[in-house]
Amino acid sequence: MRVTPWEVKEELTDSLYKKLVKEFGIKPIDQEVIERIKKHTKEIHFMLRRKIFFAHRDLLWLLDEYEKGNRFFLYTGRAPDGPIHIGHLVPWIFTKWLQEKFNVELWFQFPDEEKFLFKQVSFDETKKWTRENMLDVIALGFKENKTHFLVDTKHANLMYKEACKVAKHITFSTVKAVFGFTNEANIGMIFYTAMQAVPAFLPSILKNKNMPCLIPLGVDQDPHFRIARDVLPKLGFYKPALIHAKFMPGLKGTKTKMSSSDVNSTIWLTDSDEEVRRKIIKHAFSGGRGSLEEHKKLGGIPAIDVSYQWLYYLFEPDDKKIREIYESYKSGALSTIELKEYLIKKIITFLHQHRKKRKKAEKKLNKFIF
Ligand code: TYM
Repeated sequence: MRVTPWEVKEELTDSLYKKLVKEFGIKPIDQEVIERIKKHTKEIHFMLRRKIFFAHRDLLWLLDEYEKGNRFFLYTGRAPDGPIHIGHLVPWIFTKWLQEKFNVELWFQFPDEEKFLFKQVSFDETKKWTRENMLDVIALGFKENKTHFLVDTKHANLMYKEACKVAKHITFSTVKAVFGFTNEANIGMIFYTAMQAVPAFLPSILKNKNMPCLIPLGVDQDPHFRIARDVLPKLGFYKPALIHAKFMPGLKGTKTKMSSSDVNSTIWLTDSDEEVRRKIIKHAFSGGRGSLEEHKKLGGIPAIDVSYQWLYYLFEPDDKKIREIYESYKSGALSTIELKEYLIKKIITFLHQHRKKRKKAEKKLNKFIF
């Protein structure tokens, strides 16, 4: 199975997620977990109800600790190498909800060396995209006084020593087995996972108090934290708890996740209204039939329809509405073009609001950088 932080070569089906639960050894989100969360949040986010966040590690333990008064902090991240795409929003919108409901700190890592080491991206480019991506993250509405941005090269004085402590417990054969590296991997790639482990315990060091950590993330990032969870107890810290999101598919369909490396599969937050419309009308894979007549007779297939999937993942949080869309598309009453128009309107409305908030974020940027 090819699911690593740098490559997802699997069709996005239910059986993939079942396989991931088994092979990664993560726990499915079940009713017990949902009820435990609801006890504190009073309501349940649609991404949990729809099992878009579908798995976890040690979430029940984290809630036990929380109930004993041992508050956790949140940690997530973004490796800057270009504009943000709408798939990135899945873990962040959920993280924002968790921050609001539990009123906790969020540590947000920008590992600005990651894509330099793994791809053809210069440090000048990662510097530019770090700033640009930060504005998008702020625009999502994280709490100003409770959110801290860590940038690996900027905060190297704080992070490097801690990363070395982690690295000392990780062998070359472990990273080879977990990430599939060959002998051709550069040595920066081999070390990198140690840097991504640091924010999971740095706040405990800074506050001089061992604190539980919860990491919302796309499931591709799990391998990093499988390693970190083995190492952190050896350094005297808790294992971080995780909550995993499924992959939002790209424009070409549920065969691939949305990814920055495939321009034609992606809608960026920087896309103009015309680009959004053009990409969706022209490229969004459709579960509709060959002709309108056939569609009316046989109905569409929401499970493979990208427009439907994007509404389900992100742009139609209302359960009643998404159900109606599902039913009328499946029956053939709703045509592909009508469904696409509905989605286009939702995305354009979101992007307009986002741009306004992003403009305001410029003034706040320095307050977020630790
Ligand atoms: P990056 O920058 O590739 O992606 C940022 C976050 O977005 C998630 N993601 C997606 N989620 C759903 N559907 C998609 N199509 C999709 N594409 C990307 C990723 O899983 C990730 O959660 N190494 C990390 C940066 C990082 C990080 C972290 C991520 C540093 N520390 C802690 C999570 C938690 C990276 O390259 O993410």
